[in-house]
Amino acid sequence: MQDIILEFQNVEAGYPGLNRQILRNISFRIVKGEFITILGNSGSGKTTLLKLVNRLISPDGGRILFKGKEIAQGKPEQLRKNMGYVIQQAGLFPHMTVAENIAVLPKVLKWDKKAINGRVDELLSMMKLPTAIEFKNRHPWQLSGGQQQRVGIARALSTDPDILLMDEPFGALDAVTRKELQQEIKQLHLTFGKTILFVTHDRQEAIDLGDRVMVLNDGEICQFDEPRRLILHPAGDAIRELFHADTALKKLSYFKVSDFADLLREGQEDKGSSVEWEMPMETVLDCMLQGQKTVSVYREGKYMGSFQHGDLIQAVDGIENQGRSQAGGRV
Ligand SMILES: Nc1ncnc2c1ncn2[C@@H]1O[C@H](COP(=O)(O)OP(=O)(O)OP(=O)(O)O)[C@@H](O)[C@H]1O
Ligand SMILES: [Mg+2]
Repeated sequence: MQDIILEFQNVEAGYPGLNRQILRNISFRIVKGEFITILGNSGSGKTTLLKLVNRLISPDGGRILFKGKEIAQGKPEQLRKNMGYVIQQAGLFPHMTVAENIAVLPKVLKWDKKAINGRVDELLSMMKLPTAIEFKNRHPWQLSGGQQQRVGIARALSTDPDILLMDEPFGALDAVTRKELQQEIKQLHLTFGKTILFVTHDRQEAIDLGDRVMVLNDGEICQFDEPRRLILHPAGDAIRELFHADTALKKLSYFKVSDFADLLREGQEDKGSSVEWEMPMETVLDCMLQGQKTVSVYREGKYMGSFQHGDLIQAVDGIENQGRSQAGGRV
């Protein structure tokens, strides 16, 4: 049986003084260890949803269950110990040092000094930051944006929470630092298996990081699905337009060859028509457009299998469109 860590049941939420609900009829279940990305326009309710999870605000209707228990019934502090929260500008306390920032919650929980120091060093190393005294004694303004964000993540992990809530954590970083931190959070997820709720504006980030992507539009969930299904089987025009995924080429442009590994078949190895594991999926399509019926895939020199033209058409265009594609349509 799947281990459901978080469940929303018909949740409604707004803010005092507003005459409308910001989130309406929100229901979903998240399995322990999933990496969930939440994608939506500004004002669609992403931050509001995260705030509901750790009780910074309360729902006006419906129920929120964490590990099977309604969160309204326990103590908020107990809940937050289990939920690390990271926000865009890292949200570090400016008057505290790096070490003090990371140690905030362990101190509140009255850990002894030795345990706190040990944990601070452990988290700094985990986030690839220096453990030297000089670094630990710096204040947030003496750090780069990327370092601040790393300290923010270290702080969120201090009490080894079950869930990480991340609200556009990399939104303010330059492209290179952002890519680096994306890879690290992915690695962290693989290593420690934490459940992650990660809010982003960025379509590619949502697709790259999420096991499933929740798309919010004006306070409602339009689709909550695996990246591939979201693009290949959009639930409606809003999702199709969001990804501009109206052609096979555009659909494939969101993915790498490795994202389609399940379609690989044992077959005739053909070095003349080959792609690498981490290449964009469009390169496979290019080969097929040049008339290849199969394309061989290699990972660090090792043959992994081949894509067949028909399988790819079926996956990309959907079974219902297959006839048209075979009749000389797209691809
Ligand atoms: N404290 C508040 N009081 C009243 N309205 C609020 C409050 N906080 C947010 N809102 C409104 O609720 C709606 C959703 O806000 P929310 O912050 O959840 O959006 P978001 O999806 O996180 O947007 P962004 O991408 O810009 O961060 C917006 O219309 C916003 O103006
Ligand atoms: Mg927000």
